[in-house]
Amino acid sequence: MNEYKFILLVFLDAAILIGLLGYYIYKSSLNPEGDKSIKNPLRKRFFFLIMLSAVLLILLAITIPKSPYFLFADKPPSKLVFVDAKQFNFIMSYQAINPKNPSAGESIELPVDQPVEFRVTSLDVNHGFGIYNSRAELVTQTQAMPGYVNRLRWEFKEPGTYKILCLEYCGLGHPVMSSSFIVK
Ligand code: CUA
Repeated sequence: MNEYKFILLVFLDAAILIGLLGYYIYKSSLNPEGDKSIKNPLRKRFFFLIMLSAVLLILLAITIPKSPYFLFADKPPSKLVFVDAKQFNFIMSYQAINPKNPSAGESIELPVDQPVEFRVTSLDVNHGFGIYNSRAELVTQTQAMPGYVNRLRWEFKEPGTYKILCLEYCGLGHPVMSSSFIVK
């Protein structure tokens, strides 16, 4: 089972749980006096909340350590790439970009199997910075925000041409806002 199927399964399970919870709330709101077999409905609700909290805690404990924000945090990047998003393209350079006169450096080539760091900001509105592999699968992403620099560290496992797409609606040119770089 690949990672995507696993994530899909987790989300489907969560959807079923939320659906069951909704059904339970709906049922319990219908006729609170109705079920005489329950001596103390509050007690049942209390146990339900305990179980729900336990499930949520377990899910948090499993998923939070996998948060991508901690990935490669202790590995110094071998390459730095500065990214300034601007309606409607991505300016990329190995050197810091002057926001008053933004210009791209040479085309970007990154090493395979080594941590690299993108420093992503925006010169106008919020944009997305999504990196896609040659099979058009989203590999990693961050937001490009004016006034902030978001650091995105990643290790590319496959050589090839990677595409960058904007992931936030940022104006009429949003669908054509893209760029690319090479990993080898
Ligand atoms: Cu930039 Cu959408």
